[in-house]
Amino acid sequence: QATSIADDRVPDMGKRELMNLLLLGAISLPTAGMLLPYTYFFVPPGLGGGSGGTVAKDALGNDIIADQWLKTHGPGDRTLSQGLKGDPTYLVVEKDKTLATYAINAVCTHLGCVVPFNRAENKFICPCHGSQYNDQGRVVRGPAPLSLALAHCDIDDGKVVFVPWVETDFRTGEDPWWA
Ligand code: FES
Repeated sequence: QATSIADDRVPDMGKRELMNLLLLGAISLPTAGMLLPYTYFFVPPGLGGGSGGTVAKDALGNDIIADQWLKTHGPGDRTLSQGLKGDPTYLVVEKDKTLATYAINAVCTHLGCVVPFNRAENKFICPCHGSQYNDQGRVVRGPAPLSLALAHCDIDDGKVVFVPWVETDFRTGEDPWWA
């Protein structure tokens, strides 16, 4: 690949790395053994039943309110939010103008670029090496070896909440590779 193209990608990858570092620092520095019981004590049971539910955040870091989101995001929309572990995650608006019960992790399964949604082609197309995923994130063209990861997308008290997806991947009928 030409270096000029590679250079273009550096900022994105850099941002992602930084985000991960920040998150890792925030999450793993206080050791799990010490803080997990503490955290669980304060997380309301409604948030995914203590299984790691996380309120989705918009680009400004605000909690995403489902009703408001649907007012500004129409059918077929896929827009990034901040998801589980801070991963960029697409909220999916179904054709009937409801929020899908799944969300799509935007991290390419090839080398980790954030994959944009191409509205015209109704696909996710990775700018780094051209992998393609259908509108549900199922891989349709390599070099990406796997489909984009899923998260459950619930609504709790009006807010959009992500919960880890550990069940069968409904797109492939296989066990989730990310769980
Ligand atoms: Fe997406 Fe290589 S990182 S195709």
